[in-house]
Amino acid sequence: MPEPTFATIVNLAKKRGFVFQASEIYGGLRSAYDYGPLGVALLRNVKEAWWRSMVRSRDDVVGLDSAIIQSPLVWEASGHVSQFHDPLVECTSCHSRHRLDKLEDQSRCPKCGTRESFTEARDFNLMFRTHMGPVAGEGNLVYLRPETAQGIFTNFENVRRVMRRKLPFGIAQVGKSFRNEITPGQFVFRTREFEQMEMEFFTHPDEADQWFEYWIDERRAWYLDLGMRSDNLRLRSHQGDELAHYAVGTYDVEYRFPWGWDELEGIANRTDFDLRMHSEHSGKDLRYFDQAAGERFYPYVIEPAAGATRAAFAFLIDAYDEEIVRGATRAVLRIDSRLAPIKVAVLPLSRKPDLVEVTGRVASLLRPRWDIEVDVTQAIGRRYRRQDEIGTPLCVTVDFRTLDDRAVTVRDRDTMAQDRVSIDRLVGYLADRLADSPRTGA
Ligand code: GAP
Repeated sequence: MPEPTFATIVNLAKKRGFVFQASEIYGGLRSAYDYGPLGVALLRNVKEAWWRSMVRSRDDVVGLDSAIIQSPLVWEASGHVSQFHDPLVECTSCHSRHRLDKLEDQSRCPKCGTRESFTEARDFNLMFRTHMGPVAGEGNLVYLRPETAQGIFTNFENVRRVMRRKLPFGIAQVGKSFRNEITPGQFVFRTREFEQMEMEFFTHPDEADQWFEYWIDERRAWYLDLGMRSDNLRLRSHQGDELAHYAVGTYDVEYRFPWGWDELEGIANRTDFDLRMHSEHSGKDLRYFDQAAGERFYPYVIEPAAGATRAAFAFLIDAYDEEIVRGATRAVLRIDSRLAPIKVAVLPLSRKPDLVEVTGRVASLLRPRWDIEVDVTQAIGRRYRRQDEIGTPLCVTVDFRTLDDRAVTVRDRDTMAQDRVSIDRLVGYLADRLADSPRTGA
């Protein structure tokens, strides 16, 4: 089957309740989205898979959850106040605004087609500003964080001390970030409010190159392990002025989106830039003391920085498939069971009270272990189709034979093969089939 189009995925996301337009009943707010019941489950599963891989399964990384609003001094020290901007141009003909560095033809307005109509580019700072307290004024100006990373740097010494850490070690954080993007777009790919999954790995400067290589490989492997197709993933090194103000080297993990290759995640060597800057600006010595070597120095930082909302979107695109089954098109989300919003659907063949009653009992066996859905509406074929489209790996059907043989039919999403399984053995059977996909947060 051909690759899914952008419109197909956006339609699926809206139709099945993954993503809704924010403030829809008021006409919507551009580039702001709400995650519906299936979307929030997918997003949580993506974040959970990241946390499990980056924190829980390692002994050299710990977690953190820092505030979204920090002292404005943090953003002065980090360079975001002076350097976190994009070149903004306005078309003097139609007054649309654009990010100059993202325009394919910098002499022609992509909205109205007029040539040489752009104003001089001006630097536009991407941080959202607000005020702390009841009176708005310069004295209480604060910013919504544009990355989660800085809360990690400012807590470096707190975490090192209380967790008694020696280099190398990492601090991980998942949470919301905000950027007043000039050109948000491509659905949830680039939004002004989004979620990041970032880890700052602190190392001796002499070991930074080797950890940089290590994290590039690890991060690519994470997407592959969760089922992303390798021909849709590539690594790309940043060149020259593409590098952020803090980095000496960056590799992007890129995904082949319907509009072309684009960034999923960046892995950067941030050197000692952040700890040095925060030391200079705060007056607190954030150097690390290596007792064995009798040496005091600023650790280097290797940073894998991923977008949770962007990754969830890419997993959705990657998993979407269509095939012809008995002359009709079957849409199926072949998503890894760890990411699937619903792991098992429990479906009575009909609404007859005795079948519905057994269905309830089967559901209560499964619910403590997995995210399940009971669906008693419509014909069974339509219910299977819905579960295929939202990526439910297994459907358990309670039919009339169940009343006699105390067994159910388990249907596989990908092959549509069916197994008859006794209710007594069902939990063990599903646990084998759904290896490694417990309830979110379990
Ligand atoms: N701390 C480094 C940092 O923030 P970044 O490359 O600017 O680096 C990391 O952001 C990741 O965050 C990106 O690779 C992307 O997945 C996600 N991201 C950044 N801006 C985004 C936006 N406007 N909307 C959605 N995701 C975004």
